[in-house]
Amino acid sequence: MARKVFPPVSAGSVAVDRFHVTRPEMNTMRITLARPDDWHLHLRDGQALRAVLPYSARQFARAVIMPNLRPPVTTVAAAGDYRRRILEALPDEARFEPLMTLYLTDDTSADEIRRAVDSGFVKAVKLYPAGATTHSDAGVTDLDRCDAALAEMERAGLPLLAHGEVTDPAIDLFDRERVFIETVLQPLLARRPGLRVVFEHITTKEAAEFVASAGENVAATITAHHLLYNRNALFAGGVRPHYYCLPVLKRETHRRALLRAATSGSRKFFLGTDSAPHARRAKETACGCAGCFTALSALELYAEAFEQAGALDRLEAFASFNGADFYRLPRNQGSLTLEKRTWTLPASLPYTDGDELTPLRAGEPISWKLLA
Ligand code: DOR
Ligand code: ZN
Repeated sequence: MARKVFPPVSAGSVAVDRFHVTRPEMNTMRITLARPDDWHLHLRDGQALRAVLPYSARQFARAVIMPNLRPPVTTVAAAGDYRRRILEALPDEARFEPLMTLYLTDDTSADEIRRAVDSGFVKAVKLYPAGATTHSDAGVTDLDRCDAALAEMERAGLPLLAHGEVTDPAIDLFDRERVFIETVLQPLLARRPGLRVVFEHITTKEAAEFVASAGENVAATITAHHLLYNRNALFAGGVRPHYYCLPVLKRETHRRALLRAATSGSRKFFLGTDSAPHARRAKETACGCAGCFTALSALELYAEAFEQAGALDRLEAFASFNGADFYRLPRNQGSLTLEKRTWTLPASLPYTDGDELTPLRAGEPISWKLLA
């Protein structure tokens, strides 16, 4: 925390590896990154897809697309159809590649995994413990039932993306990630030591430590909101539904541990927004949906977090290199630039007919701006 953001920059440009800090004029700081990717994204379908996709396509070259539609994307054929709908919904000038995932169920066969690998466009398989989160009711009730699929994934090197929470209602909501490590993830890796696993949207010190000390086959995504907020944000002056997601925000000690992991320079941690749009009406209600919509200003939010840690020079690896390397995909060509400039996020965005979308931190200032 005490470390300076940068050595003072007088004029011109300072290059740290491929990462550049420039001050084009007094009081303006810019950072240029290789084009980043979002390794965990919810795009939905239909009108909602068309409403949110342009934000991600503007910020990211590629994204790993979550399969928790209704019905869930459980087959390679369904993933191919969904991929086509995403490509059709892209704005004309956009260059954006959706990286598809399959939704793991108790019935996913080894054959389906082989078809996924052969497809070339399915890059991972998502584990939702049944009942853990939005549209997870078709998820896995017992990982033992998936062993044929997991064995094939281990053999082929196809990553398992884990929503890492147990679903036992007797376990405190804030402990569900920690208990998942002990009761599900460790036993799974003991059984399948070569399985490649991304522990998705980690929210605790225990998860960060587990990933850091695990083998090279285990990595993690971290959201911007879990780097910037602790659980107080859910109750600041009243209930704040737009800060509610799963896994839920945790204590400040955990937020700090995540920030340390993200900015540690470890290649095991990478950007995954978990941007998850829900209609405002579905959030601001007696039983609101889980999910924070951050795609509008994702990189700006991450830049704030990295700046806070004095580690802007590590943002590029986290956002643009580590994920591609883990997924064994080429790093992107091209770059984008963020400028240190405060602007106000819109209070709401268009979504579906008759419904609007409230971005995280709606109507409030943000201190970085992605340049066109
Ligand atoms: O907050 C969340 N929202 N967590 C998830 O795991 C799912 C996501 C969604 O699809 O809305
Ligand atoms: Zn998610």
